Amino acid sequence: MIPERLPGRVYQAVPGFEDHLSCELGTLGHERQEYAPFNELKGAGLYYAASDPSLPVFWARNIWREPFLLNFATISEAAGALRAIQRNWAPVLCTQFRRGALIAAKLPPLPEKRRPFPWLLPKEPMGAWTLLDPHTLLGSAAPDNPFPGGVIEFEEDREGPPSRAYLKLWEALVRARRWPVPGERCLDAGASPGGWTWALAKLGAEVLSVDRAPLEPRVEAMPGVRYQRHDAFTLSPGDLGPLDWVFCDVACYPQRLFGWVEKMLGSGLCRNFVCTIKMQGGPPSGPLGGGDFDTPRRFAALPGGQVLHLYHNKHELTWIRIQ
Ligand SMILES: C[S@@+](CC[C@H](N)C(=O)[O-])C[C@H]1O[C@@H](n2cnc3c(N)ncnc32)[C@H](O)[C@@H]1O
Repeated sequence: MIPERLPGRVYQAVPGFEDHLSCELGTLGHERQEYAPFNELKGAGLYYAASDPSLPVFWARNIWREPFLLNFATISEAAGALRAIQRNWAPVLCTQFRRGALIAAKLPPLPEKRRPFPWLLPKEPMGAWTLLDPHTLLGSAAPDNPFPGGVIEFEEDREGPPSRAYLKLWEALVRARRWPVPGERCLDAGASPGGWTWALAKLGAEVLSVDRAPLEPRVEAMPGVRYQRHDAFTLSPGDLGPLDWVFCDVACYPQRLFGWVEKMLGSGLCRNFVCTIKMQGGPPSGPLGGGDFDTPRRFAALPGGQVLHLYHNKHELTWIRIQ
């Protein structure tokens, strides 16, 4: 049984932001009928585009590259064909649940336990698959997102951090396969109440936390933490000195963040970045309607960086640049 390679990609939407993905795809030169040829896909939040877009797509939980179709007769045949390709496969199902579960049961089990942090991602790819009908499987051996189905759950700390925002920082650092090591200098812009600062201080980093609002006192008291009450965007890179990491979770317009990032990059004093791009307004009503799709593209065009929608992001994207 030989998988049939399909051209293009399959896009797995972020639940609640399907319209964002649909708008992105709709403006990237795809014909509508090209990205919905399979009846079952939409219910699973999957969109198929028969061509590769020239512009990046951000509002996807996962992008299935090099998709293939597999026609199979039995459950064992389907599972055997996937195992012949590689070890790890995650199902993304919306119909055919029972048959899908039977196939999944014949594949190596997916990790159920929450992950600790820091956690070094394994190098082996995590494939993705769905069933279009009882005898047709659509899959991809190497999707963009390394987590099963694009989902990562951490062992949470319910006492230390003053907010749950640290989870998106952990996820960004796991995906970057890098995190601050003891002694590295970090700026945490928009730090209050202190979730990110808490996570960075726990790693042993030196953290300058800047916000117009106060830091939770117990976070401010952590070793390595220094708090400055200030507008993060009016600090001069020269005054801050060399920074190994620049973190920014400031609630602001994407364009404002972009201007600041350009300034920080231009100073030549900042190495690695993790910044949340807060998107404004409701979902776009028409092609690129109300949403700002332009600024994320400008971020994505900065050399060495990538823009992702993380599992722990809400109506926001994350720009990561690791040197
Ligand atoms: C989403 S919260 C940050 C949460 C934080 N990362 C955490 O883990 O707890 C956004 C923060 O941006 C701050 N902020 C907004 N504009 C700012 C500015 N110009 N300079 C510094 N902080 C700003 C707000 O005061 C707010 O605390």
